[in-house]
Amino acid sequence: MDQLGALETLLQEDRVFRPLPGLVMEANINPQELASAYQLAAHDPLAFWENAALELQWFRRWDKVLDDSKAPFYKWFTNARCNIVHNALDRHIKTANKHRLALIWEGEPGDTRKLTYFELYRAVNKMAGALKNLGVVKGDRVVLYMPPLPETIIAMLACAKIGAVHCMVFAGFSGKALKDRLRDAGARCLITADGFYRNGRVVPLKPAVDEILEEQDAVDICVVVRRAGIEVEMHPARDVWYEDIVRHEKPEAMTEVMESDDPLFLLYTSGTTGSPRGIVHSHGGYMVGIHHTLNWVFDIKPTDIFWCTADPGWITGHSYVVYAPLLAGTTTLLYEGHPLYPQADRMWHITAKHGVSILYTTPTTIRMLMRYGNLFPRQHDLTSLRMLGSVGEPINPEAWVWFYQTIGRGECPVMDTWWQTESGQIMISPMPVGLLKPGSVSKPLPGVEADIVDRTGAPVPRDKGGLLVIKKPWPGMMQNVWNDPDAYRAYFEKIPGCYVAGDVARRDEDGYFWMQGRADEVINVAGHRLGTAELESALVAHRAVAEAAVIGIPDKIKGEVAKAFVTLREGVEESDELAKELKEHMKRELGPVAELKSVKFRKDLPKTKSGKILRRLLKAEELGTEPGDISMLEEE
Ligand code: WT7
Repeated sequence: MDQLGALETLLQEDRVFRPLPGLVMEANINPQELASAYQLAAHDPLAFWENAALELQWFRRWDKVLDDSKAPFYKWFTNARCNIVHNALDRHIKTANKHRLALIWEGEPGDTRKLTYFELYRAVNKMAGALKNLGVVKGDRVVLYMPPLPETIIAMLACAKIGAVHCMVFAGFSGKALKDRLRDAGARCLITADGFYRNGRVVPLKPAVDEILEEQDAVDICVVVRRAGIEVEMHPARDVWYEDIVRHEKPEAMTEVMESDDPLFLLYTSGTTGSPRGIVHSHGGYMVGIHHTLNWVFDIKPTDIFWCTADPGWITGHSYVVYAPLLAGTTTLLYEGHPLYPQADRMWHITAKHGVSILYTTPTTIRMLMRYGNLFPRQHDLTSLRMLGSVGEPINPEAWVWFYQTIGRGECPVMDTWWQTESGQIMISPMPVGLLKPGSVSKPLPGVEADIVDRTGAPVPRDKGGLLVIKKPWPGMMQNVWNDPDAYRAYFEKIPGCYVAGDVARRDEDGYFWMQGRADEVINVAGHRLGTAELESALVAHRAVAEAAVIGIPDKIKGEVAKAFVTLREGVEESDELAKELKEHMKRELGPVAELKSVKFRKDLPKTKSGKILRRLLKAEELGTEPGDISMLEEE
């Protein structure tokens, strides 16, 4: 947000959906419990989070729930000892969960592997032993350059079990990105795969790794998982096959006793401006934050088949593919490949085949599938679904309603969850028993104190947009930025006493939050400040439009004017008339302020590898300027 003052609200979205009575009756948290949770959290948030912590097992209890003496370096559950793997695996082996499925994995070619908690536990123990034999010790950083495989989860948990710090690098990143992260993390050990399946092809990984490792000596162990069965070079003094190192390991291993604030993992996020920051999350606070939110937001039951479609290499994968479902003792589903392979019904095929009950995905995926129409979903039995979720970008109301009606039969509530790599856990989200407004993330969860303010920290009136801030620490929050405490501190210094998320949002008369986009992408047309989300949602509401991105272009008279980039639905032809019609449509929907200077049709919009629209790149193309770091750009 470059200027003081509030954003305007243009979009009127009045639809409201109520949860079905059956869902309310069976919910983990019923409306009365929710009301008293809000009350407790408002007057004693630490007592609220302490209750959440008591639902997990600890080797030693905390002296204090929160130590804020060195704020903003908050310490959660001080002097407590724990290990997230004890809660995610070890404890389940002693209960009825032992032979329940922990993981259903499906490869892109259609091969499937299923592991019970007992089987996953033993596989993790073997890998933990193998890593120790290779000399990996508590506190060491281990970089995982891995596609979505069972071994990816096994390796993450094995690291955590022995107290090593895992650092996932998404397998779609280039060797260069891997190299930067290896160096920043100071890793000695790298775990990778020969290759993997994506979009009907084998994507080799190991050759990229070889190239990087030749140029440095810090990494002296490279573990290779065989997935694609392609020929790879194995460097004799450095490379070992995963299957060779685990073969003779014992299926039992010690779980390291960790301090609550000992690091569990580093995860690099590129932010908007460039150089990657290693966000640090801990064992104790993180475990409490994600366990609590999966239970409350997704109403998780042990009998669920929970499918979060994120790659384990993103925070959504860490929190809600790997750790939280295992903490809950439920079944998590992991799919290796592309959602459109071999055709656009793969996700519905997987849902029906494995009886997925909760599907958590992104607006980008929903818009992409919506583009292919209703025929594909109708060809599959999707009645196992009982809850839906969205994360990663503002979801346009049209996409929300399509997801709700066509995929969820009008019966499955859509949890539009707002959070970040830095927040670790879901922060603002509906709950299954609450009212739903398509396009709204609903309200901050109990224990999360969020507000909307201007640059000076002053509250912004209802229905005006401003900066989203978090005013109190929460357990899943990042602990630091690796090697860069100043970068950590910077999140808390823009507005005194607040964590500034970098997003703009507004609150309606019911207290519902509506995300309006990134603060640095706000468009200022003749003094009217507009978030990108509403403009784009209005475009997506037009039946010809599949996806839209809006940017501001400098203008002598108005300061800025809005320019739209649009992709069309299957079968729609681009034309000058359509461009004109879209401009008219915008004025009709949002008023004269929302005038588009021009509309450009594109086959695709540039996206990050995690699926977010990269407006910064469109703007640079448009202005002929340097786009800055684009290592996160997805090249399809
Ligand atoms: C940014 C964080 C952990 C989520 C995956 C992305 C945007 C996330 C929503 C939502 C509107 C959202 C924000 C946020 N975002 N969820 N429900 N509605 N915007 O994690 O890569 O760290 O990105 O994603 O802009 O700041 P991330």
